[in-house]
Amino acid sequence: MSTEAVVLVGGRGMRLRPLTLSAPKPMLPTAGVPFLSHLLARIREAGIEHVVLGTSYKAEVFAEHFGDGSDFGLRLEYVVEREPLDTAGAIRNVADRLSADDVLVFNGDILSGADLGDLLRTHREAEADVTLHLVKVGDPRAFGCVPTDPDGRVTAFLEKTENPPVDQINAGCYVFRRSVIEDIPAGRPVSVERETFPGLLAAGARIQGYVDDSYWLDIGTPAAFVRGSSDLVLGKLPSTALPGPVGEALLLDGAKVDPEATVVGGSTVGAGGVVASGAEVTGSTLFDDVRVDAGAVVERSVVGAGAVIEAGAVVRGAVIGDGVTVGAGCELLDGVRVWPGVELPPGGVRFSADR
Ligand code: GTP
Repeated sequence: MSTEAVVLVGGRGMRLRPLTLSAPKPMLPTAGVPFLSHLLARIREAGIEHVVLGTSYKAEVFAEHFGDGSDFGLRLEYVVEREPLDTAGAIRNVADRLSADDVLVFNGDILSGADLGDLLRTHREAEADVTLHLVKVGDPRAFGCVPTDPDGRVTAFLEKTENPPVDQINAGCYVFRRSVIEDIPAGRPVSVERETFPGLLAAGARIQGYVDDSYWLDIGTPAAFVRGSSDLVLGKLPSTALPGPVGEALLLDGAKVDPEATVVGGSTVGAGGVVASGAEVTGSTLFDDVRVDAGAVVERSVVGAGAVIEAGAVVRGAVIGDGVTVGAGCELLDGVRVWPGVELPPGGVRFSADR
């Protein structure tokens, strides 16, 4: 039986601002390539060639990079929403591009190690209308949870609570029977979590859960984004899209790291980057052409293209926009976000978003 994939990439990525002011979230450089490259590689490895991208925010950027998909062994199509249609609305909006019986749908901001072949098998064996990938997480309180019965059938979609009855959550990857997609109302925003899934359950549809405890990360926040990028570099989640060997650091074309500098923890130094003597870069993602001067410390942070971290500055758990200068001796601590182009003068300014 044939399968096709839909990837939802139309969100504004508000939680990742200022990085998403210039690029949509799925196009942010993640372990050296656009985030979406890692997902497309997994889809291709599952034997799926036809992929439809549901786009809205900064729609043109995707086609500029991925083209018709042939360089990636895929047949890619792009569908642009005039107004954002939310998740289910976006799936409905691409229905006329689909012809397979089963359609794999992915949120375009999830890193996951789920076995897609096994997910599809589960869907077919259960003869389900929709099958959801459900992942077991250590602390489910931050998510809505999705209980299943002993046959794996979904019994409810529960809101976030302090005492979730199960530790399995919606992992943002589904198999839809194509006819179910056609039944989603067209031309208006519809949410899969709030409207489509609860509606299907109430109508008696067969909704199956595929539960595992594979690697799973929603990269929607700066802390999660930088962790995901580092995990890919370290090989915690293998990806054939990684443009270099697995290791403590990924150095892209022309990146220069002084022998007296330390770059570890799955950090990426983008093309043309320079890390000077005595600098320490740990678990961080430096986009292209970033300069980290002598003795500076960059930890768990994302640093936008062309930014400069001057000598002795400390950047921990922060997001530094494109073209920013962090002056010598400044300290930017957990949660700080600096908008593109800002120049922080030398002199030991200390900012922490937590206080
Ligand atoms: P935040 O603004 O930070 O919440 O991020 P987001 O806009 O990406 O929203 P969210 O993380 O909830 O979205 C989950 C997935 O659905 C992401 O891959 C989004 O790109 C995608 N998505 C969300 N809304 C839309 C939409 O209206 N249209 C399309 N095509 N995709 C969407």
